[in-house]
Amino acid sequence: KIFKNPQIAVIAGDGIGKEVMPEGLRALEAVNKKFNIGMQFDHFDFASCDYYLKHGKMMPDDWFDTLMQYDAIFFGAVGMPDILPDHVSLWGSLIQFRRGFDQYVNLRPVRLLPGVPCPLANRKPGDIDFFVVRENTEGEYSSVGGKMFPDTDREFVIQESIFTRQGVDRILKYAYDLAQSRPKKHLTSATKSNGIAITMPYWDERVETMAKQFPEVRTDKYHIDILAAHFVMNPDRFDVVVASNLFGDILSDLGPACTGTIAVAPSGSINPEGKFPSLFEPVHGSAPDIYGKMIANPIGQIWSGSMMLDHLGYPEAGLAIFTAIEKVLAEGKSLTPDLGGSAKTDDLGKAIAAAI
Ligand code: NAI
Ligand code: MG
Repeated sequence: KIFKNPQIAVIAGDGIGKEVMPEGLRALEAVNKKFNIGMQFDHFDFASCDYYLKHGKMMPDDWFDTLMQYDAIFFGAVGMPDILPDHVSLWGSLIQFRRGFDQYVNLRPVRLLPGVPCPLANRKPGDIDFFVVRENTEGEYSSVGGKMFPDTDREFVIQESIFTRQGVDRILKYAYDLAQSRPKKHLTSATKSNGIAITMPYWDERVETMAKQFPEVRTDKYHIDILAAHFVMNPDRFDVVVASNLFGDILSDLGPACTGTIAVAPSGSINPEGKFPSLFEPVHGSAPDIYGKMIANPIGQIWSGSMMLDHLGYPEAGLAIFTAIEKVLAEGKSLTPDLGGSAKTDDLGKAIAAAI
């Protein structure tokens, strides 16, 4: 699907979200001109702790209708733990978006970039290049359950996992489509059918059924424990990795960690049908420890913009941004302190925009 003249809601949020967002926009404006995309941006101040301090809530009551008018949300980061507990800021913003806009895919590229020191020995750019596809709405993260007989010796708690055929099939379909579109055409499923003996065999069964619709895609599966080990020992084995909510949560942090720094990692919370707006944001948070110094690395934000363009139907523009990131990193100039340089956030952002 190609979104004509995409309308983008821009929410910088808190902390370094406000410092890296202008650089994300700088790159988007550069490709907007170059590829004549006609993208338009509107800025919103809600989904931030500043908004909460003024209004006593994270978002206005009509946030859903307001954001529904946009094709995508370009997001910075939310959270200022010294001002507001994280569960209030997160549940009042990002979690509302994920549920309200049925963003059932969480997509994270795991790619080793030039000039970024890799924590795994002897790996070079090209060796690590895969996606983690996480189910984002059901599975282990459910609110079905409860506590009984509190404060007695009969006390117990139960929390149920929920795997629906619809929910499992749609995430698998997305992952297979992605695998089909890539040169390696390889899908890895995260399971644990030896230990979690009802839901995970069901997950495996749905994978086998879906695999039949994608005869060109090679499918394999690993139990989650050994899969985590292979991320570290053999990351070159993977192309598209699909996982339930809990397993995907863990793998989607482990993957980017294996490629160096979370400061450069992007993510998408996607409603693939485009019925609702999807959201693109860096993996990192608001980093209160460095906020105000203009030393935050803007690459996670800029790369998120590249993913947003892929989703909106402009892959050449998305690639132009990604190629510019790689070029500037390879040159090794204009790097922020986390990459060993002394450049400011906007120096790196401007270098990438110039490379575009
Ligand atoms: P964080 O990602 O904000 O920071 C972790 C560490 O990485 C810090 O030392 C920080 O300085 C460094 N770092 C992060 N991004 C960087 C960048 N672009 N350039 C250079 N260094 C960078 O995670 P933390 O400290 O656990 O959380 C801080 C706040 O952010 C909390 O309120 C948390 O809830 C929120 N958060 C929000 C997320 C979101 O908006 N999706 C995701 C993660 C955390
Ligand atoms: Mg996580």
